[in-house]
Amino acid sequence: MEFKIKHGDLAKAKTPCLILGVYAKPKLSGPAEVIDKASGGALSALLQRGDMTGSRASCVVAYDLPDIAAERILLLGLGKRKELDRSGFDKAFAAALARLSEISVTDALFALPKPPKDMNLYKLVRQTVMQAAQANYRYEHTKEPAKDAPPQLQNLSIWIANKDQDAVATRAATHGKAIADGIELTRDLGNLPGNICTPSYLAEQATALGERYAALSVEVLEEADMEELGMGALLSVSRGSREPAKFIIMRYSCAPISQQDNKPVVLVGKGLTFDAGGISIKPSEAMDEMKYDMAGGASVFGAMVAACELQLPIDLIGVVPSSENLPDGAANKPGDIVKSLSGQTIEILNTDAEGRLILCDALTYVERFDPALVVDMATLTGACIVALGRHPSGLFTADDELATEISAAGETAGDRVWRLPLWDDYQQQLDSNFADMANIGGRDAGAITAAAFLSRYAKKYPWAHLDIAGTAWLTGKPKGATGRPVALLSELLIRRAGIET
Ligand code: BES
Ligand code: MN
Ligand code: ZN
Repeated sequence: MEFKIKHGDLAKAKTPCLILGVYAKPKLSGPAEVIDKASGGALSALLQRGDMTGSRASCVVAYDLPDIAAERILLLGLGKRKELDRSGFDKAFAAALARLSEISVTDALFALPKPPKDMNLYKLVRQTVMQAAQANYRYEHTKEPAKDAPPQLQNLSIWIANKDQDAVATRAATHGKAIADGIELTRDLGNLPGNICTPSYLAEQATALGERYAALSVEVLEEADMEELGMGALLSVSRGSREPAKFIIMRYSCAPISQQDNKPVVLVGKGLTFDAGGISIKPSEAMDEMKYDMAGGASVFGAMVAACELQLPIDLIGVVPSSENLPDGAANKPGDIVKSLSGQTIEILNTDAEGRLILCDALTYVERFDPALVVDMATLTGACIVALGRHPSGLFTADDELATEISAAGETAGDRVWRLPLWDDYQQQLDSNFADMANIGGRDAGAITAAAFLSRYAKKYPWAHLDIAGTAWLTGKPKGATGRPVALLSELLIRRAGIET
């Protein structure tokens, strides 16, 4: 999909469809007023008939306006001007995109209204581009597109009132496209079935990214390497599966040489390509969805793509420990004790709490990079969905400043998080009679005890954990991967790179 920034005389703009905002009451947006004047009051007349009230997400299409070059106008209800915020804008624009698809419009020009109260022009343009690109997403790896599927939007031009803001808008559109590309890869990987998207497949995808981007180098550790290092926790999970585990390391290096102390940002993502629970097997209902248990890893891929596309001036390392979790004669058994890379021993009381077992070794491994920051993403617990539902990801960190930084990035990106406590009080739930810790902490506060477990392996650097079990996947209809939290991670990286947003 192509995006362009336009300005100039809106009445003369040639386009199959010009999208104009209308506020409640109804009241024309700035660009709509321009068109109203140029057409001798055609839009005012239309409003007077009562067809368009300006209520949020309502759409009316009008044809053949006098002295207007656009073939048609799509009036888009934005609701009350004062109440319009980012999420309201999202809802309205989603309705416009759906309507464009219904009327088979493949080329449109969106005359942006004034930014909603919690956005500036950069954010509005970036969001518009990301939303349009994401609305076009189709999963096509193992299914042909429907023959009668409506054609997709191919070109979206964005008209801005002030030509002086062309540079900002162009940058925002570039950013939006780059992030959308990352999100698309993340969704594809999440949607692919476990028999295709195996640890080896993820490793191949990483290698392919390394070939695509000069700034990205990729290394894959094999089980023998992990054995030698002593990744006993990760390998214990992989032993129950015929697919060999892979430990994927992607290094993106673009920090300016002047920054001598450039410690990297490290992203770690759970790459469980299928989680049957192991010997503590899951109920069969909806078990198919456990193919998305690599969504954390997939979000690392997405964030790497965004960083590469944007050529962000930072050092970034993505690490994806990848395995399956299946029941097998060699699989972990409840009561087994394994030794992690950190040297700490773990009593595996439930083999379905495998994510923390593969992540703890990854968290120890990344110490060698002397990170400025480590953020791990994992579809870690059903308990996080119980606690927070499916709107925010769970955020866990002992670092208040970091919590603020990540929360703010999530707000801006429309990819929100909500912080849960990570107090020491919870640690005792992990006590074990036979090892340094158990891998589960009982019924209470399951998302927190999982994070508390991880925290024992992340003591050497600033660290945050995102539990994305509720946000990385939509159940019901439509079901599938959402690409979260790539938007949040991209925003975080853009800010760390010192780029203005
Ligand atoms: N991958 C699951 C968590 C999960 C559940 C993600 C539902 C998405 C939707 C994880 O490996 C798991 O099985 N966690 C257990 C932990 C429990 C055994 C302490 C859970 O949440 O039930
Ligand atoms: Mn599990
Ligand atoms: Zn899992």
